[in-house]
Amino acid sequence: MAIARDLATLRREVAALRRRAGSVALVPTMGALHPGHLSLIALARQAAGAVVASIFVNPLQFGPAEDLSRYPRDEAGDLAALRDAGCDLAWLPTPEAMYPPGSATTVEVAGLSDPWEGVQRPGHFRGVATVCAKLFLQTGADVAVFGEKDWQQLAVIRRMVRDLDLPIRILPGPTVREADGLAMSSRNRFLSPAERAAAALLPATLQELAAGLRSGAPAAPRIGAAEARLRQGGLLPDYLALIEGETLQPLEAAPGDGSARLLVAARLGTVRLLDNLAV
Ligand code: PAF
Repeated sequence: MAIARDLATLRREVAALRRRAGSVALVPTMGALHPGHLSLIALARQAAGAVVASIFVNPLQFGPAEDLSRYPRDEAGDLAALRDAGCDLAWLPTPEAMYPPGSATTVEVAGLSDPWEGVQRPGHFRGVATVCAKLFLQTGADVAVFGEKDWQQLAVIRRMVRDLDLPIRILPGPTVREADGLAMSSRNRFLSPAERAAAALLPATLQELAAGLRSGAPAAPRIGAAEARLRQGGLLPDYLALIEGETLQPLEAAPGDGSARLLVAARLGTVRLLDNLAV
């Protein structure tokens, strides 16, 4: 596996991969890789001849009071995991390489960036869209793979690609879960053993709620009951909503064609857990 830490090396290595393998898939990550990320690498390997993974803890998507400095970092472990997963090239830009002094351009996906995570983390999706646009242009990848776990992020990236006619296909990867249903996340490592046990209530509540809403029952009372159940279990929901999967608009009931999605974020100690489920 080749490693690029500057743009000139990246472009040279990608050109060589393209000559050798024809097409290139990108898996953007912030490192601290877990089996969920590795499942995206496996999808990328099926989708293209060569795979590039980026590792960049993107300062632009963290708010001033957020956990940028304590975001988990394990470069040696990540590179070993990428090598084992069959990644061809790791792109590890420095913050200065990604945002040279004087950088003034950002990408804003209006509307889709505003609700849900956008309320909790103002500016977050501007940071995500900007870095993803740059990663797409830097690598020139044909396809990029994103986990469904961050559903709103996936919707924002899809809309950005459509609106800007970016020549890249977005491929979603299913959420990978622990044995008790908890969606894998780099931040799960910050849960204490007691919090980790309590966290299983989140996917269980989502499953039960989704089952109850599939018949088209009114969402509001069931969502209220589910939020109360989460609170009793020590989880503080920031939001729990039934939404249309593409527009992210709230729904009063599921239309029953699989287009609706339950979207949740809840706090447990210092960790925010995000999850979603098709209804
Ligand atoms: O999902 C993530 O890890 C990040 O938001 C991403 C897509 C790598 C952009 O920094």
